[in-house]
This record gives sequence, structure tokens and C-alpha cells, in this order.
Amino acid sequence: MAKRKGLLLDQTGDVGKALKALDLSDWEFQAIRTIDEARKTLAADSPLVGLVAFDSAHPWPAREMESLVSSYDVEWIAVLGADLLRNQSHGPMILRSFHDFHTLPLDRQRLDVTLGHAYGKAAIFKALDDKSVTHDEGRFGMTGQDPKMAELYRQIEKIVTVDAPVLIGGESGTGKELVAAAIHRHSERAKRPFVTMNCGAIPPNLIQSELFGYERGAFTGANQRKIGNIEAANEGVLFLDEIGDLPLDLQANLLRFLQEKTIVRVGSTERVRVNVRVIAATHVDLARAVEAAQFREDLYYRLNVLHLKVPPLRDRASDIPLLADHIFHERQHQKSPQVRGFSSEALHAMREYTWPGNVRELINRVQYAMIMTEHKLIGAADLGIPAPEVAAGNPTLDEARATVEKEIIVRNMHKYQNNVSEVARQLGISRVTLYRMIDRLKIDL
Ligand SMILES: Nc1ncnc2c1ncn2[C@@H]1O[C@H](COP(=O)(O)OP(=O)(O)OP(=O)(O)O)[C@@H](O)[C@H]1O
Ligand SMILES: [Mg+2]
Repeated sequence: MAKRKGLLLDQTGDVGKALKALDLSDWEFQAIRTIDEARKTLAADSPLVGLVAFDSAHPWPAREMESLVSSYDVEWIAVLGADLLRNQSHGPMILRSFHDFHTLPLDRQRLDVTLGHAYGKAAIFKALDDKSVTHDEGRFGMTGQDPKMAELYRQIEKIVTVDAPVLIGGESGTGKELVAAAIHRHSERAKRPFVTMNCGAIPPNLIQSELFGYERGAFTGANQRKIGNIEAANEGVLFLDEIGDLPLDLQANLLRFLQEKTIVRVGSTERVRVNVRVIAATHVDLARAVEAAQFREDLYYRLNVLHLKVPPLRDRASDIPLLADHIFHERQHQKSPQVRGFSSEALHAMREYTWPGNVRELINRVQYAMIMTEHKLIGAADLGIPAPEVAAGNPTLDEARATVEKEIIVRNMHKYQNNVSEVARQLGISRVTLYRMIDRLKIDL
């Protein structure tokens, strides 16, 4: 059987010698002396398990060590004298960031079991990471299974079979453009162009020529003929985003094109026949804009033959974990190396949050958290959204117990100036138990 590879971080070489003497048949360790060297090795190679030898005569810089062990997908085991576990800076760090510890002298059997556990755990994590996620959690290239999305898919299914204009409503960032592209991709026009034009992003005086194109010499600077977006989309789909921003005079021109299926380029008199399906999107309520005389009623009815509304993210909260995972896997390559997913606190917080920027905001927040977090699991704070209230009003027994435990420990730590031994004695628990509780309850010393 091939030997399992591990890393041994050992400044003095003493543990390396002891390890050699044990002659663990399944393992082969690469010995390394410094944290820098470890980083270089880990960047090039990826062993699943690492041993770190702690020696009270040669302490590691605690912060650098903690940063190293939380930065890679490696399960770490500390090897140390029992006294070092009680060391104020090393003890908590080891309990917090290491898979396990092994006190000296080395015990062959015990070490074998510990290494086996660590290896198994790392292998499972790796398999989870490597698992190519199949994205059949939605339809039409969209992610989402919420009943609200299921309804949207059913509507799209019908819309792709006919060739009439579509008006897509929905708050900003909900996926209107994605829906428009999906309609194009699944319709008869799929092999023909899909041309996008954002009416809100183009200066009003340029929209006319963007839409209809112009002839050479039509105006100063028109050095050659330019094909407009409508002509460019011939036989395909023209997606007009933010149609509510189209100035009134251009609304008249667009209406004419929809009625006559012809256009005239700026500076020309020739009518050109075009066959284009228009899909328009808006985040404003067009019916209301019609009432306010900001949008032509006749154009509204022309565009609104088929209507779709993409629901805001907060109305399909059951899809948030799915979307967050999808975004996470899509952007794996640019994440901070140790991060493995979302904490349950973050998932809870995401479902509570109102998402004014909808899916686009979710993408931005997840992307930022993946790069910036220093934890293995992204928390609400990494996402910059409010942490969920800890089940206010009706805590579970576990939550109530945790709150009380935390309060008592914090009070005693104050009283005994963070003297862990004394606090443990006062509370009638071992120091290791106290460290574990401090870690579990996330108490900041
Ligand atoms: N259901 C979904 N599954 C996967 N990605 C989605 C989904 N909905 C939206 N997105 C992604 O969210 C981002 C915003 O979507 P899109 O641009 O289609 O929204 P929009 O409604 O057109 O927004 P705006 O009103 O700001 O123009 C895009 O990156 C899109 O790919
Ligand atoms: Mg858009």
C-alpha cells in the first residue's frame, strides 16, 4: 500500500527522530523547520495531515502559527509536553485550531489512531470540496426550487413556444436579464442573435441611433454607416432593459417599429424590414407610469402581451442556501484557502435578511466573504448582514444553557483576571473542559 504523506513541522528535529524510531508503516513525513517553509510546501503540495511539534524552549510565534494552520485544507495535530497545553497563548490556540493533540512521549498506537482520524476527516472534506456539484436545482439555467420559481418556470415554458413580445417585471437584481436570455435560448430564435440594450444607461440623445442605426454623414462624426441594435438583432431577440427610462419621443419610434416591423436608419429615408422579438424589462411599475403619463399607454399594451414577474429574493427564501452554495462553488478558485462553506448562523441570517439588491447583492456579499473571511465557515459578520436573534422569546434548552454558561464563565474570568486554572477550580471543571467551553461558546478572552 502506498504510504500516506504528512507534514512535520519541527524546529529542533527531536520529534522527527522520535517519529522515525516509531517506524509507522503507513506514514511518510516530510520534515520542515519553519512556518515560511511550511507555507511554500503547502502551496505546492497538499498533504492531508500535518504534525506540529511544540517545545517550550523554542515557542512558535502564536499568531503566525494560528494563521498557518487555519489557512490550508490540512488537519493538524499538535505534539507537545502536557505542560504546554496550559500555556496561556498556546493552549487555547491548539484547542481552537488543531484537529487534536498528542502529549509526549510519543505513543505508537495512540498516534496511529489520531493520525487515522485526522486523515479520514481531511479526506471527507476533500471529497466534499472536489465533488462536482450538479446544478439541476433549477431550470432554464437558473438556480431555485421555491414554489415561486417553479411557477416562473411554468410560465417561461409557455412563453418560449410563442413569438410575441414579453415584459419582465421585478426588483433590481432579481434575474430579469437571466430570464430574458433563457427565453431566447429555449425559443425558436435560439440560434439567432440576442442583443441587449440598457435604455437607462445610454444618454437620451444617443438612444435613437443606438436603436435604429445611422447612415454615413447623418450627423457630424458619422463617418460610416452604423447598424442599430434592432437590425443587429434581426431574426433574434432584442432585450430592452429598463424600458421605463426610454424618453417619450423614442417610445413613439419604438411603437412604430413594433407595429410596422420596419425601421429607418437615422439620415436615411429607406424603410428596412426586420424580424425581431422584443423582450423588455423594468424595475418600475409601468402601469403606474402610464397613469402618470410618463409611459405611452399604446406602447405599454404592445410590450405587455406576455408578462412575467421575477419574485424578489426575500419571497423565495427557501432558495437562498441553494443560491449561496451555487455562488460559492462557481467562485471556488478565488476563495480564501481555508474556507469551506457557510455556518448555520450565516444561513439563518441570510434567510432573515431582506435583500434589497436581491440575487446580485447575494452574489456580491458571498464573493466578498469568500475572499475576506478568516474562518473555515462564513458567518453573518463576514457577509455584513445582521446576525439572527438567538431565537428570541423562545430559546431551546441548549441555547438557554449556553447563554447561562457563557455568562458564568465570563463573570469568573473577570473576577480571576483570566486565570484559567483558578476559574476551572472555582467552577469545578478541568482546565481542558474550560478551554473547550471557551472555544465552543466563542468567549473572547
Ligand atoms: N435564479 C438565479 N440563479 C442563478 N443566478 C441568478 C439567478 N437570478 C439572478 N442571478 C444572477 O444574479 C445577477 C443579477 O441578475 P440579472 O442581471 O438578470 O438581474 P436584473 O433583474 O436584470 O437586475 P437589474 O434590474 O439590476 O438589471 C446575475 O449575475 C445573474 O446571473
Ligand atoms: Mg438587468
